[in-house]
Amino acid sequence: MPKPKILTIYGTRPEAIKVAPVIKAIEGSKKLEGIVAVTAQHREMLDQVNDLFDIVPDHDLNIMGHGQTLNDIAARVIGGVDEILAKTLPDAVIVQGDTTTVMGAAISAFNRKIPVIHLEAGLRSGNIASPFPEEANRRLTSQVTTLHLAPTDTSKQNLLNEGVNAVDIAVTGNTVIDALLMTVAKNEPFVDPRLEMISSSGKPVLLVTTHRRENLGNSMQNIGRALGRIARNNPGHWIIFPAHRNPLMRETVLPHLVGLQNVTVTEPLGYGEFTRLLSLARIVLTDSGGVQEEAPSLGKPVLVMRENTERPEAVAAGTVRLIGTDEERIVGEAERLIHDEDHFDRMANAVNPYGDGAAAARAVAAIEHMFQVGTRLPEFTN
Ligand code: UD1
Ligand code: UDP
Repeated sequence: MPKPKILTIYGTRPEAIKVAPVIKAIEGSKKLEGIVAVTAQHREMLDQVNDLFDIVPDHDLNIMGHGQTLNDIAARVIGGVDEILAKTLPDAVIVQGDTTTVMGAAISAFNRKIPVIHLEAGLRSGNIASPFPEEANRRLTSQVTTLHLAPTDTSKQNLLNEGVNAVDIAVTGNTVIDALLMTVAKNEPFVDPRLEMISSSGKPVLLVTTHRRENLGNSMQNIGRALGRIARNNPGHWIIFPAHRNPLMRETVLPHLVGLQNVTVTEPLGYGEFTRLLSLARIVLTDSGGVQEEAPSLGKPVLVMRENTERPEAVAAGTVRLIGTDEERIVGEAERLIHDEDHFDRMANAVNPYGDGAAAARAVAAIEHMFQVGTRLPEFTN
């Protein structure tokens, strides 16, 4: 009997990081055949990750355009993926997360009656408008999914509450923790000599990332102004800001940081360098989903510049605080962590609510079980 053919489709940096352990685990499976396709909704930031994990896609739609709108991306993904499906005739398609690539590829597969396997299924903020458009992408993808690979019990409960059958859900842990553990131990050298210098200076580092579409505009202005104030008020700290390539983010935030000696803005860092920086950082300020999952497992206090989160587990554990995007609040919360040791110590707990490094093995076992060529592994519990 031929092995079930599993096509993994992804398009952006975080998807690439989170599918990499699964692609590797499928390669190692004797029971499945893996194929890889990228939409390249991101280009350079996607290629950085594929290069690091030695993944060479079999198909590449190369869709990224500057100023791409959600409907540009969705239309190119649905049409482009349809052609790949027609050529490759997979037995199932894996998508990961909540980007427009995920929603488009899932719809494309559903329309061809190809089962969809959704990795990182069941995250919910509870507000369809926030994060925008990710919450809608997740919910739409769930509607057309056959096998839901939920990272945590909370995400499984969300799916059960929406009427998904328990037999169609497996709790795997988040594969981002597999990727983190595979990478952080390598202690990658920094390509940028400024980062090597900062790391050997011993000065405390505040690591910042921001890119959320819903923060573009006024919220991003607030973030830029707040970073400028934190830098000026705290010359003993370094602010390191690996800047996402979105030009709208850059033109809003970067003008606030010009001429500040203790702010270092870099290009997007390779995943190895970024995880090393994360392990060196004292405080993390972000609106990223993946960074919210990684930083707690390294014991870093995380201030999340959003109004809500679909990742409540580390908030409950006390390592993550949701602080919104008000300028005063960002400055106040960051400076409280800088100056109040007790507050810092209460937040700086290493917690692992998102995974244990074996999520990809559980995901592949659940896929083998779906095709009746293997058995599931015990679920992830935190
Ligand atoms: C996308 C996802 C978001 C995810 C984020 C991860 C959607 C709608 N948004 O948002 O959920 O959190 O990726 O980073 O799916 N660009 C480059 N090179 C790159 C990547 C981006 O130049 O390698 C620039 C391009 O000008 C592009 C712009 O960034 O048009 C925005 O990229 P896009 O994928 O539309 O949105 P993100 O904010 O990256
Ligand atoms: N990351 C990276 N280089 C950087 C910044 C982030 O490799 O310069 C990684 C980070 O470790 C995390 C992922 O990118 O795994 C998060 O991506 P992003 O914030 O773009 O998207 P989100 O997770 O919000 O969807």
